[in-house]
Amino acid sequence: MVDISLERGEIPSSGTVVVTATPTAMLSAAAARLDVASRALLTRALAAGPLKHGQVLHLAFPPGLELDAVLVLIVGKPDPLSELDVEELGAKLVQKLRAFGIAEATVASTAGIDVGHAPAAVAAHLAAGARLRAYGFDRYKSARKDEDSPKLKSIRFLSDSPDGALALRLEAVAEAACAARDLVSEPANVLTPAALAEACRGLGDFGVEVEVLDRAELERLGMRALLGVAQGSVQPPFVVVMRWRGADSDAPLALVGKGVCFDTGGISLKPGAGMEDMKFDMGGAAAVYGTMRALARRTAAVDVVGVVGLVENMPSGNAQRPGDVVTAMSGTTIEVINTDAEGRLVLADVLWYTQERFKPSAIVDLATLTGACVVALGHENAGLFANDDTLASRLVGAGAAVGEGLWRLPMGPAYAKHIESPIADIKNVGRAREAGASAGAVFLERFVNGRPWAHLDIAGTAWSSRDLPLSPKGATGFGVRLLERLVAEHYETGRA
Ligand code: BES
Ligand code: MN
Ligand code: ZN
Repeated sequence: MVDISLERGEIPSSGTVVVTATPTAMLSAAAARLDVASRALLTRALAAGPLKHGQVLHLAFPPGLELDAVLVLIVGKPDPLSELDVEELGAKLVQKLRAFGIAEATVASTAGIDVGHAPAAVAAHLAAGARLRAYGFDRYKSARKDEDSPKLKSIRFLSDSPDGALALRLEAVAEAACAARDLVSEPANVLTPAALAEACRGLGDFGVEVEVLDRAELERLGMRALLGVAQGSVQPPFVVVMRWRGADSDAPLALVGKGVCFDTGGISLKPGAGMEDMKFDMGGAAAVYGTMRALARRTAAVDVVGVVGLVENMPSGNAQRPGDVVTAMSGTTIEVINTDAEGRLVLADVLWYTQERFKPSAIVDLATLTGACVVALGHENAGLFANDDTLASRLVGAGAAVGEGLWRLPMGPAYAKHIESPIADIKNVGRAREAGASAGAVFLERFVNGRPWAHLDIAGTAWSSRDLPLSPKGATGFGVRLLERLVAEHYETGRA
């Protein structure tokens, strides 16, 4: 764990200090002070140019100073820097510190150079990006005594307002995204539906009202689509309702998540190779959890309800069979052609329950729903489906702002034909090798009762086999920053 803090304070006289300069070699006030004390070491180093945004000059044992090193971080692109650019810069700094083998560093304020954002905002975004990139899931790694190189331990970002609203907000969001990553990273023998429900209950500490519905309750409600998925597992299913009432409203925003703690495919068993990845199939639920956590921790002025359906999809003597017909809570009958198309069965009941009970102003669901979406979009964008253009464009905008891309894909009556069943109202799969992500979406649409709704298919983005700018390889926490941004921009009262 790297300890990252935002603090008021002075540049230390020992250790490693990071200061900033522009590509045109303009020095921040802090850099200028060190330059004077070191008889123009920085000016001379920068004169060697050419300088590029994100570059870091490592100046060891600067003369005239007690410091081990001064690092000069180059900040500034031809275009104005976005908030995301600054976060990615903070992430890049983490990687540079690691490459240089530095254990502790203090990052001075950018005051004195114009990077298009106030120095306190720059510090807050740098710290947020650093937090996201420094994340690691190492709780199952035994401690090693023979570390070859010193590990990065702490980064202090100096800011004249470390406790500003923006700083607190960004810290809450980064922490919550990392908490969501932890849940996705946990193996399925640890993170059972019961364990995930308990994690949700823990949000009570932040003022979220949490209600856990158990199997008996789900049976009473008639959630037979969800229960059919769960019936092959010895792990009992749960639906968890999390409400953050940071504002009064009669129609909350609803966030719904697929929480399949492990997806074997059930009787329609998946191939063995790579099946271990299917622990990530609760990534939608983790994103909802993380968003609720972020909103509560920063006491957002919004009324949001998060609802997650938690099950394990297993084959067994008691498992649901291909061809079974189940009646969802809505009364719609579903022919279960493929037990591996289980996420939509879970969401069918959770979506219906959510819209019926809360009459939300809008619903956004997140689900690792289809391999077809990964085929269509790769890992670069999540699939976006919506019955409401305003909601769709708000989501696209929020995603672009935080670097969580969404690409809209089609629905409509022509695709709805794909899920017609000869014996029930609908079946749970579309046509072989045709528009699989859209088939999943039109299935879900049957259960939103015409309310404004968007579905994010995050099958390709919840997990990454490569390092990303703001996330080491593994669980990405995709959706947390996006939804928090959506709320801040469009659903929070008293905000622009
Ligand atoms: N959880 C999977 C989706 C998935 C598959 C995500 C591969 C990432 C990689 C989902 O439950 C599933 O199995 N979907 C099936 C649907 C099909 C049977 C209609 C799929 O995509 O193959
Ligand atoms: Mn499946
Ligand atoms: Zn699944």
